[in-house]
Amino acid sequence: TDPVASYDVIVIGSGPGGYVAAIRAAQLGLKTACVEKMPTLGGTCLNIGCIPSKALLHASEKFEEAGHALAAFGVKVAGVELDLPGMMGHKDKVVKSNVDGVDFLFKKNKIDRLKGTARFTAKDRIEVEGKAYAAKNVIIATGSDSTPLKGVEADEQRIVTSTGALSLPEVPKHLVVIGGGVIGLELGSVWSRLGAKVTVVEFLDRILPTNDGEVSKQMQRILTKQGMAFKLSSKVTAAQKTDKGVTLTVEPAKGGDAETIEADYVLLSIGRRPYTEGLGLDAAGVALDERGRVKTDKHFRTNVEGIYAIGDVIAGPMLAHKAEDEGIAVAEILAGQAGHVNYDAIPSVVYTWPEVASVGRSEEELKQAGVAYKSGKFPFLANGRARAMNATDGFVKILADAKTDRVLGVHIIGAEAGTIIAECVLAMEFGASAEDIARTCHAHPTLNEVVKEAALAVDGRPIHI
Ligand code: FAD
Ligand code: NAI
Repeated sequence: TDPVASYDVIVIGSGPGGYVAAIRAAQLGLKTACVEKMPTLGGTCLNIGCIPSKALLHASEKFEEAGHALAAFGVKVAGVELDLPGMMGHKDKVVKSNVDGVDFLFKKNKIDRLKGTARFTAKDRIEVEGKAYAAKNVIIATGSDSTPLKGVEADEQRIVTSTGALSLPEVPKHLVVIGGGVIGLELGSVWSRLGAKVTVVEFLDRILPTNDGEVSKQMQRILTKQGMAFKLSSKVTAAQKTDKGVTLTVEPAKGGDAETIEADYVLLSIGRRPYTEGLGLDAAGVALDERGRVKTDKHFRTNVEGIYAIGDVIAGPMLAHKAEDEGIAVAEILAGQAGHVNYDAIPSVVYTWPEVASVGRSEEELKQAGVAYKSGKFPFLANGRARAMNATDGFVKILADAKTDRVLGVHIIGAEAGTIIAECVLAMEFGASAEDIARTCHAHPTLNEVVKEAALAVDGRPIHI
């Protein structure tokens, strides 16, 4: 069939990778369309990921504060009650205003939104809802979905993925979380704050296994104090649904005697996998790597000329801001500019209380790579503002090259760590040394002063400890 329209760029998927690529391409004067199969724009992040999870994290934190934490500030709150439908309403409203925002931006930038599932019929032809479209360039930004686990089939009722865990109809009595990664700890925290008993079953011998080891250990201690329970080095081998919930069979990771755990809800959060289902990559001849990700070079080119890929569907951390930066870079490349992403300076944040934030390399990674480094660490306990906020848990740790003093990694646990990390990312982007951070004036009293003190500590000269 003849194409009904032809474009300079067709973007498949409207998540943070796809919608940002589409906007940047349109800004640069390219005739652009974006295909999305969901009823709303914004992808995983805006609809069932970053945004709704942060709305619930924030709201559940308020509930927790009202119930316990405010009394220490001399604020008495009586009759604290949970209105779960009200909290879900807040979440839904936040999601709606964000996805509507993307709609507005598409109109403003004159991007054609094509509704339906896109499928390649040739390398420069896409079919959507039976209609053919021609494109000089196609950007695959189809994202990811949750990794399934054999024997534990998610029904989104009792055994849920993150999607179901964002909309449970009631507070679980006992929520068992399979996987002590980012989703498990964030959504586990939400339901724990709202009153659920939460048990995290993790295959490895520590939670947050990709974080710095010291951070993982301290976070487990803090979350345990908050009431979460952890079963490390353990695997779930079966899930049996009962009329009350689910019976899980759990074994030591290395094998051994099995035990059973009763749960009324189970959250399956053992990672996410690239999503390319129904995309017709065969018809275009696009190659995948050994882990099912679309294979790309440094310029986001696949093996097929004119077809590019970005975001969760390619290699690298599955993070919204990584996808966005790739979206901008690929659009600039298509417009003949020099788009680029610096993978050495991508922050990652876990939005628990306190938050965990990191950029660059961990001590384990530096040791493994044989890089000689210095470490400077400073606790929030010794920061005036943190004391004023009753937020003294955690620390900032800066790792710097032993010879050049260049910052190689920063690891933070603490209130607002996700915001604090931004200056460290900027420092790394500019190739700063720890000395540069130490000599930068930081406003007082702020939590960011802990970053400055950690930088001073790299050279053994912190002031306030
Ligand atoms: P996606 O956002 O997954 O978007 C892909 C889109 O493509 C989807 O809308 C899909 O419907 C569409 N699509 C797929 N195939 C087709 C097709 N053939 N035709 C048409 N459309 C198609 N990251 C962070 O950085 N910070 C966070 O706080 C954070 N929180 C998260 C919380 C949760 C619960 C989850 C699940 C994820 C979270 N993430 C977070 C990860 C973040 O959501 C992803 O990294 C990000 O969404 C990836 O963007 P993307 O554009 O690559 O893909
Ligand atoms: P994850 O990769 O963060 O964590 C998965 C955890 O499950 C790991 O600790 C892993 O060792 C463990 N695991 C794997 N198989 C297991 C098994 N069979 N039994 C028990 N444990 C097992 O994945 P998660 O939490 O599902 O999140 C997916 C991705 O989504 C994240 O990696 C991140 O990229 C993104 N995300 C980012 C957020 C943020 O930036 N704040 C928030 C939520 C998700």
